[in-house]
Amino acid sequence: MKKIELHLHLEGAAPPALIRGLAAEKHQDLHGMFDERGGYAYQGFKDFLKVYEAATAMIQGPRDYARLLEAVLAECAEHGAIYVELFISPEFCGGADLPAWRDHLGAMEEVAHAAAAQGLDSRAILTCIRHFGPERARKTAICAAETSGGWVTGFGMGGAEDAGEASDFAWSFDCAREAGLGLTNHAGEWRGAESIRDSLTLGVTRIGHGIRAIEDAALVRELAERGVTLEVCPGSNVALGITDWRRHPIARLADAGVRVTVSTDDPPFFHTTLSHEYQMLAESFGWAESEFRQMNQWAAEAAFCDDTTRTRLIKELQ
Ligand code: HPA
Ligand code: ZN
Repeated sequence: MKKIELHLHLEGAAPPALIRGLAAEKHQDLHGMFDERGGYAYQGFKDFLKVYEAATAMIQGPRDYARLLEAVLAECAEHGAIYVELFISPEFCGGADLPAWRDHLGAMEEVAHAAAAQGLDSRAILTCIRHFGPERARKTAICAAETSGGWVTGFGMGGAEDAGEASDFAWSFDCAREAGLGLTNHAGEWRGAESIRDSLTLGVTRIGHGIRAIEDAALVRELAERGVTLEVCPGSNVALGITDWRRHPIARLADAGVRVTVSTDDPPFFHTTLSHEYQMLAESFGWAESEFRQMNQWAAEAAFCDDTTRTRLIKELQ
């Protein structure tokens, strides 16, 4: 089945073997960061963020970014993706100033073009880190605005949802919107409905996760009426202990008419793949091709791409 993925963190998708290789090249000791199976080892969300930061610090310079993107896109293609949007956080990899970002972007654009020629189209969403604060977010927003128009088509925010309010980052989201970028924010993962409402004031058309909207019936109705798209990452939510597969809110949100889509977030951290997400949803809710087709259609409609690409994607999905 052909799939669209809207929520995939480039750094969080780094195969552990690649990070170990980069660490060895840089003579860095990442002892204790990997489990006995060679995967990333962490205990809970805050520890996940710590390990995530240590791993992503190994990605430095255009060559590392190119190798990372190549590995990640190959994995996406293997699981049937025809279009993927990558969250990229220059703040993690020492590249948040504009000249460094331009270098990194140039290297990645070459890889992205080559993958597109092979049938996997992609776009980048520059993503600031909420717990690093509004000042640092501004630098990422400026990088996004200054390099918008080509492969970079979106701006977003990830990180610890309990750090300040979404509205503290209004300047960055305004800057990105004025540059013509699509907007999304991680919310309703670690906090409830009020965090999603706060995000909507930033002018986002999509919410990363958003599953805790289910706690507030009026908000669920509002999301459905406004056509806000949720980038749901069920395997991530299960791995981080927010819910389990059978109780996952995605099915109830879909039944209420909310536009839900399916993504993997940080696949090696959560021992998942796009195919695994579909398989688990099929087993948990009895979903079949028609349900998945509808979600991919919504994903195409919400994608941060030009209308020519969107029309082509919608056709390809049929
Ligand atoms: N939540 C917040 N920030 C993140 C996540 C997540 O699930 N993954 C990578 N950064
Ligand atoms: Zn995420």
